[in-house]
Amino acid sequence: MARVLVHITGVVVAAALSAAAVAEELRSYTITGDGIAEPLTGVPGDPARGRALVLERTSTCILCHSGPFDEVRFQGDLAPHLAGAGSRWSRSQLRLRLVDATRFNAQTIMPSYYRVDGLARVGPSWRGKPILSAEQIEDIVAFLATLKD
Ligand code: HEC
Repeated sequence: MARVLVHITGVVVAAALSAAAVAEELRSYTITGDGIAEPLTGVPGDPARGRALVLERTSTCILCHSGPFDEVRFQGDLAPHLAGAGSRWSRSQLRLRLVDATRFNAQTIMPSYYRVDGLARVGPSWRGKPILSAEQIEDIVAFLATLKD
């Protein structure tokens, strides 16, 4: 049953992702320990924009995650509740998880949002492009860091 659910989610995620096309070349970043200490853009993101992105279905987060988002009726139950993520993880760790979640769990179902290598089943119009832009990653990191409780 769990396998079937994950498979269905994968299809939904793939469909949603193709709607959220963001064209951008990857910027280089440095992994230090279990995180990326410096913002991908060189400057911190905007938490309000990050919140809007996390709640948007096309960013796919809430297909899997739930969180302290009272206005969203249907939230995912395949991944941890996001409340307190800003206390459990540093900005550096949050950034690396969004960039490449497989660094934390090689078998994860969470997409790598800022990675283009080593991915299977990427549609032609998606090859070579990350799912989210560097700015979007930074906005989401800034928002997740505010989820302290
Ligand atoms: C296909 C499902 C899926 C999607 C989509 C997804 N995640 Fe995840 N995420 C997971 C799972 C599962 C975990 C638990 C750790 C693991 O298995 O990698 C996780 C872990 C996390 C964690 C750490 C949670 C904790 O406190 O332990 C954060 C933060 C997070 N995800 C944020 C996001 C954000 C932000 C997005 C959207 C940009 C997103 N995730 C999209 C499945 C998903």
